[in-house]
Amino acid sequence: MGRRFIVGGNWKMNGDKKSIEEILGFLRQGPLDESVEIIVGVPAIYLDYVNQKLPGNVVAAAQNCYKVPKGAFTGEISPAMILDIGVKWVIIGHSERRNVFGETDELIAEKCAHALESGLSIIACIGEKLEEREAGRTTDVVFAQTKAIADKITDWSRVVLAYEPVWAIGTGKTATPQQAQEVHQQLRSWLSTNVSPQVAEQTRIMYGGSVTGANCKELAQEADIDGFLVGGASLKPEFVNIVNARVC
Ligand code: 13P
Repeated sequence: MGRRFIVGGNWKMNGDKKSIEEILGFLRQGPLDESVEIIVGVPAIYLDYVNQKLPGNVVAAAQNCYKVPKGAFTGEISPAMILDIGVKWVIIGHSERRNVFGETDELIAEKCAHALESGLSIIACIGEKLEEREAGRTTDVVFAQTKAIADKITDWSRVVLAYEPVWAIGTGKTATPQQAQEVHQQLRSWLSTNVSPQVAEQTRIMYGGSVTGANCKELAQEADIDGFLVGGASLKPEFVNIVNARVC
């Protein structure tokens, strides 16, 4: 069974009423390859609005959620709330959540488990920092991050992994197709050994980190790169070209 190509835009803490209309404009205009699953991660305050305005072939995702349905957790949103407004996806464990907000592997795994139990699909992010890569620790780090999640979940059918090397995020320093493919292949092999060969075969692994209209085609050729998680370029019309990386 082939893995459906999946492209996510992560708007991060960007966008206002005016620029969101522009993004909606180029998404509506496309044309967007129909074989690709397309998701945009929207700041929570605009999530309901954008979800109602997106064209039918693009779905919205929350960029974060907490690990319980409700309660005294000021500033947080829950999977139940995300589902209540009709959104079915959430991004969890982004490197900015890990490194700016101090989220641990343990917390991220708990969030993944709760989001899945609640009925959301998740994009679970992993990736090494520059000093970890330079110390030859890339696989140790991404395997440990993946293990923390794998230990707490049982159903992988609504899980997409996003490999985002931290040194490539927002830096213009994209991983080469070979560097990305190497880690994706190692992750798939880890899943095969530690979860199951079937989960390894079926789970999609997106690449994220300075993906642009100019470098997406080459990356998309790699056998274990099943899509992209795009930051800066998802705010611009070139996002359409990234969605279409495999076709034109
Ligand atoms: P950039 O595409 O801006 O490097 O961001 C990548 C990212 O963090 C997507 O989640």
